[in-house]
Amino acid sequence: MKKVFLILASVLVVTVQAQSTHDWENPAVLGINKLPYHATLQLPSKQKECQEIVSLDGEWRFHWSRNPEERPADFYRENYDVSRWDKITVPGNWQLQGFGIPIYININYPFVRNRPSVTTEPPKDWTAYENRNPVGSYVTYIDVTKDMLNKNLILHFGGVHSAFYVWINGQKVGYSQNSMSPAEFDVTKYMHKGKNKLAVEVYRWSDGSYLEDQDMWRLSGIYRPVQLWVRPQAHISNYQVTAQPTADYSQAKVKATISLCNTGKKAAKNLQAVLLFNGSEVKTDIKQIAVSDTTTVALNFTINRPKLWSAEKPNLYPFSVELRDTKGKAIEHFDYHLGVKKVEVIGEVFKINGKNVKLRGVNRHDHHPKTGRYVDDATYEQDIKLMKQANINFLRTSHYPDREYLYELCDRWGIYVMDEANHETHGYGYANSEMGEDLTWQKAHVDRAESLVKRDFNHPSIILWSLGNEGAVGPNIEAMYNKVRELDDTRPPFYDSDRRYSCIWDDSYLYPNDLKKNAEEVKDKPFMMREYAHAMGNSMGNLQEYWDVIYADSSICGGAIWDWVDQGILKDGKYNYGGDFGDKPNDGPFCINGLIAPDRKPHPHYYEVQHVYQPLQFVREADGKIRIINRDCFTAPSEYDITCDTIVIDGECILNVSARLKEDKPWAKKGFAVASEQFVLQEWKFPQPSDFSPQNSKTKNITIKGNTLTSWIVDGNEILLAPLEPYFWKPENDNQHAANFAQRTAVWREVSDVTVNYTVINERQILVDVDYHPTGTDKPVMPKFGMRMRLPSNYTDITYYGRGPWENYPDRKRSAFLGRYQMPLAEYETEYIHPQDNGCRTDVRWFNITNGSNTLSIQGCQPLCIRAWDYGEEDLEVAKHPNEINHGRFVNLNIDGNIHGVGGADTWGKRTLPQYTIDGNQPHHYSFIISISN
Ligand code: GAL
Ligand code: MG
Repeated sequence: MKKVFLILASVLVVTVQAQSTHDWENPAVLGINKLPYHATLQLPSKQKECQEIVSLDGEWRFHWSRNPEERPADFYRENYDVSRWDKITVPGNWQLQGFGIPIYININYPFVRNRPSVTTEPPKDWTAYENRNPVGSYVTYIDVTKDMLNKNLILHFGGVHSAFYVWINGQKVGYSQNSMSPAEFDVTKYMHKGKNKLAVEVYRWSDGSYLEDQDMWRLSGIYRPVQLWVRPQAHISNYQVTAQPTADYSQAKVKATISLCNTGKKAAKNLQAVLLFNGSEVKTDIKQIAVSDTTTVALNFTINRPKLWSAEKPNLYPFSVELRDTKGKAIEHFDYHLGVKKVEVIGEVFKINGKNVKLRGVNRHDHHPKTGRYVDDATYEQDIKLMKQANINFLRTSHYPDREYLYELCDRWGIYVMDEANHETHGYGYANSEMGEDLTWQKAHVDRAESLVKRDFNHPSIILWSLGNEGAVGPNIEAMYNKVRELDDTRPPFYDSDRRYSCIWDDSYLYPNDLKKNAEEVKDKPFMMREYAHAMGNSMGNLQEYWDVIYADSSICGGAIWDWVDQGILKDGKYNYGGDFGDKPNDGPFCINGLIAPDRKPHPHYYEVQHVYQPLQFVREADGKIRIINRDCFTAPSEYDITCDTIVIDGECILNVSARLKEDKPWAKKGFAVASEQFVLQEWKFPQPSDFSPQNSKTKNITIKGNTLTSWIVDGNEILLAPLEPYFWKPENDNQHAANFAQRTAVWREVSDVTVNYTVINERQILVDVDYHPTGTDKPVMPKFGMRMRLPSNYTDITYYGRGPWENYPDRKRSAFLGRYQMPLAEYETEYIHPQDNGCRTDVRWFNITNGSNTLSIQGCQPLCIRAWDYGEEDLEVAKHPNEINHGRFVNLNIDGNIHGVGGADTWGKRTLPQYTIDGNQPHHYSFIISISN
């Protein structure tokens, strides 16, 4: 009988395999003994001085196991010896400290999709096969004084990926998932005087990971700060402040609710909750808070003639909340700030403070090349500073809440924030119904919305709450939406995948024309592209075309570029992307999409954003007057110093106009140009072929064979390491690769239908004239129309007159002003983490490259596009990382009449706008003079 039962039982186990009993594979268990979510109580920048906070960050003991079965299950016990364990830095990701493998994957889950299981057997070659669900076991010790034992002790984890258990002194405290939000536990009763053992067991994946399928590095561990809060037994458990302007903006109604709880063993009596504002106090008496009870009081007051908060004018009002005892002594004091602002959706117009503000946005992942998901304060400051300098006024915290300090910087320096819930279920498909309709997952969805709003409620910079990215449709989303509405009626919810639950209609990665068309069709809501202009590699063409559409339609509130920073991980001196760690499955370099490199160095296209996003635009009228168009809502042009400089370069007369800061800002110094434009007053006179007549065309040092110049000997030295020849090919950039460019244009690996005429003017000067006359009508677009040559490798110093100083292409050149620039070849090149075509300068009038004794000069008879590299096309096309490129054998010079644009919509198939391509079925012609001098 017993035997039969056993067999039956094991059959049962097999059939209900997915119904694991682990908390970490059970969507009904989101936490055990977690304290309720609440607002950040103390401004992040002031937390170091806050006497209630003891930081537990530093070196902890650590043990890594590749799966739960192999973990040291009893390590939390007081007598378990961890003295020989490795050390790890907290906060940090364990994969970046030598434990386990980082995985970069976009849409699919890194484990087998079989919810709620995260340990179902995957294919043998997946990282998750051997490392089924790695576990990190952490130990540290906390010193507790006798005094502290009379207080309430709260353990605060800023963020732990993805699920974890906590023990103090061998006793189980609790459990948490929801990896991007704080988790808190009351640990008072487990502590004793002296050294206390804190043990934390972290699982790489949990059922929570089903909601965390964001396109990013999948990293684990205690990656945000850990704190012990030493608090009075009766204390402020939460406070929420709103400051809404009245209809005429003459006053602001400040409403504060302060929640007080009593964790002591007897009732807390005669307390006072106080809000300190501008030298005065608003307060209320609390007679009594019963044991284990929480009381919420409301404190309201009015600000007359408030200075409004906006990204342009981030006016903040500091305030403090205080809890006082019977004698009026402060037993708790926290500092924060408020901003008076109104967010409204009126019909199809999105408004801030009554104005049709345009959101010039960017998406940002919380990424650091060395510390992964932990980003330090200095890097946050650098990021927000660079954003402000680029005229970005809108940040989407894709795709989860960031560390608290980032929001404080946005409050203070002025950035509108769309704060996003840690929710993406893309592995089930965009707008899937599996996760949206499975009600056993509803609580887990709502938990993410609630934790988001509750933590960040008091940040004035937040204008929209995003329910997540690329998630589900259905009742679980509706429940998230309702939760956000219930918690905050001052900032509306946004969501991309189920538009019923969004105050704004999102449609992303459209071509500019489709943006215009689709926005016209949507009549009941404002329109935005929560993501657009996929900034992968050498990209971001046609940005101005987008903004021409956005500025022309009041229903389009803006867009956010994808995305801010290349998610490269620094190891062995190079930036690694998907697959570089042997991670499988992976999505290769698809995480390298930033406006800036991992070390925060701006890419060339960063400057294009800065230019297109500038708050003032300058237009030169027929009568020569400069008209200023103000794209901002709360700042007048007169608040800037407008400067005009006229420069003359070889007869070309140029006017540079700028709007400069009149005073220092936290993010830029006085004099910084927030907007600039260039106008050509008197145009460059390009030399014409007819200006040149051969003086001494019969020279022995020049050899021409058909279309190619094969040899040019100067002072006894050959300067052509490869002939000057017509060459229409260029390597792809990432956008082009995705659009099958190399295949579509493969015929151009060989030139055809071209005639090059060389006119030798003298032994040091040749006129080159290139004529393309197509014989067929079925030619694909040309990668470029031009010539190529190779010079000795010591030609490394460049001076040119054209657009610069940074790389520019026909569809991305507005920020690159005409000028005379000088730089070494290494700077002329742009190094992309994923090697690709780069380094072009357009509208080049002349170009000199020298080895110190000889200078090769090129003069265009019309504008030229010139690329110069110390490697060849063949090197670039095979290299997966810059260190694989064999530099320095020669200098590769492409001298072109035109080049295909970089493209600007997405990196999964969209093409460069037709006006920035070269029609292979039309004739083309250009010419230039090439000369050598000492
Ligand atoms: C978007 C997605 C982002 C990122 C991007 C491609 O659709 O929301 O998370 O995956 O595509 O880089
Ligand atoms: Mg996705």
